[in-house]
This record gives sequence, C-alpha cells and structure tokens, in this order.
Amino acid sequence: MSRRDIRPRRLRSSPAMRRLVAETRLHPADLVLPMFVREGITDSVPIASMPGVEQHSLDGLRGAINAAAEAGIGGVMLFAVPLEKDATGSGATDPKGILNLATRVAVEEAGDALVVQTDLCLDEFTDHGHCGVLRPSSSSATGYEVDNEATLERYRDMALVQAEAGSQMLGLSGMMDGQTAVVREALEGAGFVDTAILAYAAKYASAYYGPFREAVNSSLVGDRRTYQMQSANRRESMLEVDVDIAEGADIVMVKPAGSYLDVLADVAAASTVPVWAYQVSGEYAMIEAAAANGWIDRERAIDESVLAIKRAGADVVLTYWALELAERLRLS
Ligand code: PBG
Repeated sequence: MSRRDIRPRRLRSSPAMRRLVAETRLHPADLVLPMFVREGITDSVPIASMPGVEQHSLDGLRGAINAAAEAGIGGVMLFAVPLEKDATGSGATDPKGILNLATRVAVEEAGDALVVQTDLCLDEFTDHGHCGVLRPSSSSATGYEVDNEATLERYRDMALVQAEAGSQMLGLSGMMDGQTAVVREALEGAGFVDTAILAYAAKYASAYYGPFREAVNSSLVGDRRTYQMQSANRRESMLEVDVDIAEGADIVMVKPAGSYLDVLADVAAASTVPVWAYQVSGEYAMIEAAAANGWIDRERAIDESVLAIKRAGADVVLTYWALELAERLRLS
C-alpha cells in the first residue's frame, strides 16, 4: 500500500510557508529595461501597441534613467529612433547620431547605479528596415539579399562609436554570422577591453516583434527569415550559442522568451556564460491587451510570465515591465 503521509500540500499551507519554499525569486537587479529614444521630439510619444511604454526625448531620457536607477533595476538597453534613414544606416556610426548622444546622456545620469547597454543593429537606421546592408541577388525572390560581410564592417564601426560614447555593454541583435568575433576584435584592437558583449545568440524570426516595429518607426517590408532563426528549431540554438561563446560573447541571449522556454532551458543547462532572455514587445502587448479587456488579472499575469522565464533558466530578463516589477518587489 502506498504511503499516505507524503503530502505536498503541507508546504503550500500558508503564505509564509509558500514564500519560504519558493524555488525561484525575482530581484530588481535581475531586470533590464529596454528604452526608446527618439530624435527631434521635445515631449515623449506614447506607443499605441505598447500601453505604458513611450519614446523618450533626449531630455526626457534623463528623468527616465533616474527613475530606473531609483527602482534598483540592473540595467537599461537603449534603442534609437533617428529622424533620417538611409541604405547603410549612416546614423548608427555618427558620433552625434541619436543613439550615441542618448548613450552619453544615460551614462552621465546613471553613474554606477546601473549598466547602460546599447542595441548594436542597423534596422532602426536603414531606410529598408533590415538589420544589415543589402546587395542585389538574382537568386532571391526579392531581388536583394542581406550582405553578411558588408554588414560586419558596419557593425565593427558601430561597436567602436558606441564604446566611445560610453556604452558598457553592446547588444548584438543583428544575427549576422561572425558578428561577435568581429566586434570583439575591434574592441580589443581599440583598447575597449572592458566593453561587454551581449550576444543575441538564439534570436528567432518572430511575430512577437510586431509592436516593436511601431516603437522604432520601422520601415521594414518583408521579413528577417534569412538571418533570424526559424521557430521550428531547438538544436540549432546550441550551435548559435557555442559559436558566440567561442567568438568572445560575455553573455548570451534567447529571444523571444515566453514561446522559447525549452530553448532557454537548454541554453541555461549548457552555457558557460550568463544566459539572459528578452520578453519582447508582443509578449508585453498581449498581456496588456487582455488585461485592458478585463480578461486576465494583469499583475498576476505579468509576475507569472516573468517568473516563468527565470524558472526556465534566465539569469536576467529584459522586460518592458522592469520598473513596475522592481517597484512591486520592493513593496512585497
Ligand atoms: C533588432 C531588434 C528587434 C527587437 C530588438 N532588437 C526587432 C527585430 O529583430 O525585428 C525586438 C524587440 C521587441 O519586440 O521587443 N534591432
């Protein structure tokens, strides 16, 4: 006869008991806030598909960075919305370009309170919206392809300009082959030996990036399937992670998070460097939309979604709810 004295409910019997036996906890320092800075505005502009998230003006960024530091979160990840775009994304390598100006402002305001990180990718700066530069291709249905090697040249220049502006961590989100090696070599060569690389190792071509396109006024037509991973693949994420670590990544990322928890768990089990995950714009928008309709308990859904990402193995979570969560953690 089986024993009847084994009662898992014992450890669920009171809030204090449940708190004591919780296997996973969130801490404000585990959270990174992605932020948007838009050139040419004086007041912040709300992003309709991401209620509660806004594009900051360069001036408004100061207050927002202070609020983030006050909340005790681990870092911020800066994205820029430039006024002008062109085929090669020139604004990305202009030391006076909006992202690089914003980086200087953020570093100045943040001091030692949090880590200022920058998105290293061309899509916000190119008029075609791709993460790299294009070249004609007769074998492609679109008539062009994203040129891997030419894009690496641009990433190398971006890395140096961003490091010069004071970015403490470069978020390599473009999914070009060899990008980590090229950026690491450039940083070392220029003496930026302490600038960290966050490699978006397993980044999938995802419908969940939808609202982000509005957030950065993206001009993309088509999709990113020739460089971002296809969602059917799990094993391939290990190849991406191995390559990025071998090329000098300090941290690897899985993105999106919620629909890729299996990938995240695999990477967390195998990686020799920290593993982060990005809860993307569509994950945010879905919960906000359901909550606005009264179909879901907003706070509980937010907490559960982020806790699940940590439980699956993320050391740090990039989330648009970072400030709200940090605040809630402080009060709990
Ligand atoms: C590329 C980049 C994207 C996101 C972060 N970095 C867009 C894309 O790959 O299409 C999406 C983030 C989100 O949806 O929250 N620079």
